[in-house]
Amino acid sequence: MTRLLVRDLAQLATPAGTDAPLRGSDLGSVDVIEDAFVLCADGRIEAVGRMADLPPPDGDVEELDGRGRSAIPGLVDCHTHACFAGDRVEEFSLRSGGATYEELNAAGGGILSTVGATRGAGEAGLRDALDRHRGWMLAAGTTTFEAKSGYGLDRGTELAQLRAIRDAGGVPTWLGAHAVPPEFDTADEYLDFALAEVLPEAATIAEAADVFLERGAFDAAQARRYLEACAADGLALRLHGDQFTEAGAIPLAVELGARSVDHLEATGPAGVAVVARSDVTGVLLPASALFLDRPMPPARALLEAGAALALATDFNPGSAFCESLPLVCSLACTQLGLSPPQALSACTVNGAHVVGRADTKGRLAPGYDADIVLLDAPDWRHLAYHLGGPVVSEVIVGGERWR
Ligand code: NIG
Ligand code: FE
Repeated sequence: MTRLLVRDLAQLATPAGTDAPLRGSDLGSVDVIEDAFVLCADGRIEAVGRMADLPPPDGDVEELDGRGRSAIPGLVDCHTHACFAGDRVEEFSLRSGGATYEELNAAGGGILSTVGATRGAGEAGLRDALDRHRGWMLAAGTTTFEAKSGYGLDRGTELAQLRAIRDAGGVPTWLGAHAVPPEFDTADEYLDFALAEVLPEAATIAEAADVFLERGAFDAAQARRYLEACAADGLALRLHGDQFTEAGAIPLAVELGARSVDHLEATGPAGVAVVARSDVTGVLLPASALFLDRPMPPARALLEAGAALALATDFNPGSAFCESLPLVCSLACTQLGLSPPQALSACTVNGAHVVGRADTKGRLAPGYDADIVLLDAPDWRHLAYHLGGPVVSEVIVGGERWR
């Protein structure tokens, strides 16, 4: 049996566990143990506690010195578009000169330029690109990641994206309704094709479906048609909603029992109240708001109204070229009004609920997967405090030291 003991940690922090995402004032329910250890066996956590209560050694155990460091659960990034080829540095440069994201998308750049690069990369090239991005995410402490298709928008490339994500250990989401590709004149014609030709096989690989419900992408009626067909094939539902305009994503998410509605930068008080009363988790993506110079989502209002919230990077080449959840936690604490414990729960246990992994991911407790991040600081709140710095000092995945 392979065992790993992380000992003499200055602190260990783990969110509370429940059967449902933490919401409202419970979001900050984080237990902190000083002078702590974590014992892992066969990829799982066997015990967590104070050094004074460490059981006597029994059999072969590899030891890892935690002095001066703190431990948190491996981070869970529940919203990324990490499976893409190429980059959009040229577009970034144009945006810095005043062009807007929506203008670039409407002019056939934006998402469609990454569709071109992704279609052209071939399956092997796409897998290499995803591996590279996966390495960046792991270095930043993400041990569980969701990733969406949506840069193929043809049968072969959408399915290749989903297989690549699954084979890289990610949670695949079919974002078949991301944009209308150039071969189709209308969104409805494209959806006819996607639902008839891609969904049947996509549903055997993906765990969820997602749609970009927005002016210039898919409207509420089209999103409903797409999501209802995906649900009928067994997929959980997610929505990109209220990124630029309130176009009906929140009521649709609630009506269809979606797992999450993501973005919410444009959500007003009525939408806040609807999310808060529902079981739909609001996934906040402050790196995307920052990167596009958009308003931040109304996180405090959502929290005070009792909503379940998660945080994610939205890592993609256009609206958020950012793979770092620690940076997202810094933004959550400085821009969204969340506390460090609220930020931690939002990108661990609540992210795990959004991707259907809450029984094994997102907490440091016996029986959970031994995914652990060691921070290079004796106080775990440096996770959010160290703005963009090298705060992650070691990443343990399934009880094994990564790198
Ligand atoms: O979540 N807004 C839609 N989709 C992504 C961006 C994709 C892209 O720009 O390549 C988002 O922001
Ligand atoms: Fe996104």
